[in-house]
Amino acid sequence: MAGLIPQDFIDDLVARADIVEVVGKRIQLKKAGREFKACCPFHDEKTPSFTVSPSKGFYHCFGCGAHGTAIGFLMEYEHMSFVEAIESLAGTMGVNVPRNESDKPARRYDELFSLMSNVERHYRECLRDHAEAVDYLKQRGIDGATAKRFGIGFAPDGWSNVLDKFGATKEATERLLATGLIIRKDNGQHYDRFRERIMFPIRDTRGRTVGFGGRALGDGEPKYLNSPETVLFHKGRELYGLYEARQALRQIDRLVVVEGYMDVVALARHGIDFSLATLGTATTGDHLNLLFRLTDSVCFCFDGDRAGKAAAWRALENALPHIREGRQIRFVFLPEGHDPDTYVNEFGADAFVKELEAGVALSDFLIGELASQVDMTTVDGKARLAELAKPLIRKIPQGVYRELLIDSLADAVGLTASKLERMIGSGDADTGMGTAAGKPVSSRSGRLKVSGGRPSVVRRAITLLLHNPGAGDKLDIEKLAGVSRPGVGLLHDLIETVQEEPHITTAGLLERWRHHEEGRHLGKLAAVELPDEDDFDPVAELAECLAQLELAGRRERIDFLIEKQKLSSLTDEEKSELRQLH
Ligand code: UTP
Ligand code: MN
Repeated sequence: MAGLIPQDFIDDLVARADIVEVVGKRIQLKKAGREFKACCPFHDEKTPSFTVSPSKGFYHCFGCGAHGTAIGFLMEYEHMSFVEAIESLAGTMGVNVPRNESDKPARRYDELFSLMSNVERHYRECLRDHAEAVDYLKQRGIDGATAKRFGIGFAPDGWSNVLDKFGATKEATERLLATGLIIRKDNGQHYDRFRERIMFPIRDTRGRTVGFGGRALGDGEPKYLNSPETVLFHKGRELYGLYEARQALRQIDRLVVVEGYMDVVALARHGIDFSLATLGTATTGDHLNLLFRLTDSVCFCFDGDRAGKAAAWRALENALPHIREGRQIRFVFLPEGHDPDTYVNEFGADAFVKELEAGVALSDFLIGELASQVDMTTVDGKARLAELAKPLIRKIPQGVYRELLIDSLADAVGLTASKLERMIGSGDADTGMGTAAGKPVSSRSGRLKVSGGRPSVVRRAITLLLHNPGAGDKLDIEKLAGVSRPGVGLLHDLIETVQEEPHITTAGLLERWRHHEEGRHLGKLAAVELPDEDDFDPVAELAECLAQLELAGRRERIDFLIEKQKLSSLTDEEKSELRQLH
């Protein structure tokens, strides 16, 4: 039966399902840190040992060992079949289950996308009919052409405009809920989320509207209201204005990251087509990956106040692992009291571009900020600076850039580069690999603790990958080629899967292996407790595991060749291979 439902539909469903909602609807959950707890519904207990992890999409009971995904929970708790559980889950998310392979494209979110597109058109039509909203935009310097390009609209006052127009049936109402356009009250009734707001559609890289930002016309609170995270919309992944920038530019020489919707629109109005905004969140690693896929030059533009500095520093920390030769990262701080919107309206596009060109390079910003935190006139102060720089520099991949930064830093503190390098430590150098994030891989708290002695390297790698599927992104699968240890095949397939499906979750991986003999142990490994992510770097740990396995593979091969050498003679090829391996 499972074969009838396309795998990528199940992947999507599991990734987008909210396990807290699925479980919480049926048993009482209590928040405990990043997770939720309850008394286990599958065995008798007085103190709660049943945990639900929203980020992993996974539940686990430390008492009886029950565990699984949202699908698994429905099967166990509601005694549903696999297919029934999928249908039930899809139903609450407002999507239909595609029934056979010919139903491609399998990702049946079409209905939700088309709803978003219809609602976007509705908001645009409303804008035309509401003079006060048009006046507001005009007064902020936005002309008709720019409004059109960004699809800007207006949600008039009223509690049920969208609900009445688009929620005629029960299914249609579910779809409105699933896209966050309406809100459900405790009594089961619904109302429009966006009322009396200028509406900015947020588009994905393919131009499909996945969410909205709504600005209050006057002093309404909150000033901006955004769509919630939905099956279509993930704030940490989308960038406002990216689609429009790509439409406008044939070649993207640079991109500027600003803070607000209005900044992007105002800049575009003045002919600066290469700006985009994060959606009220910090710039994430996902954002940076997306940006650097499009251009080599990224500039962060922040307000000149303290909040702007703090946001810039966060962006810097997240950008360090993405530094490469040939990539440029700059920071621009506008004069106090200005944001890009007010600046470009007051001084014009040329002045803004000059500001961009005068921005500081990442290395200067980093050293300057650290230097301002210590007393550079004393030896102690300089030592402290080196100390502060250490964890930051370790995040930069090994290479020319890192060397240059160390050189500049050495200059600043009056040490030779080699001495400073020794102080900073080799970071990831001991594995001989340029890992994406070079945090010390052997930090005390960073080791996996799995009961029952030291876990094998393969088991450790599988556990890490299951808990952090995103960390497998850059792993070089070739390193496993010569390794013959139990579980290596499974590890290989897991890495392949997370690389093909970059957004797959722990739950998604478990569902992929639901029907496989090999995957029987995955559930148990997913339930192992790992140290907090802040205390260790899964990317570096995984890279280390692979390096160890590669080394082991090489040793096996050397032993094999030496054995063979004893028994018979080696071919010329094998001889040179052996020399190389040594
Ligand atoms: P700002 O408060 O800097 O607003 O928020 P702004 O962009 O200058 O807006 P205008 O010029 O007054 O219209 C910057 C960004 O932070 C998010 C939004 O994404 C906004 O564009 N934000 C801000 C919210 O999500 N909610 C808020 O209430 C405020
Ligand atoms: Mn503003």
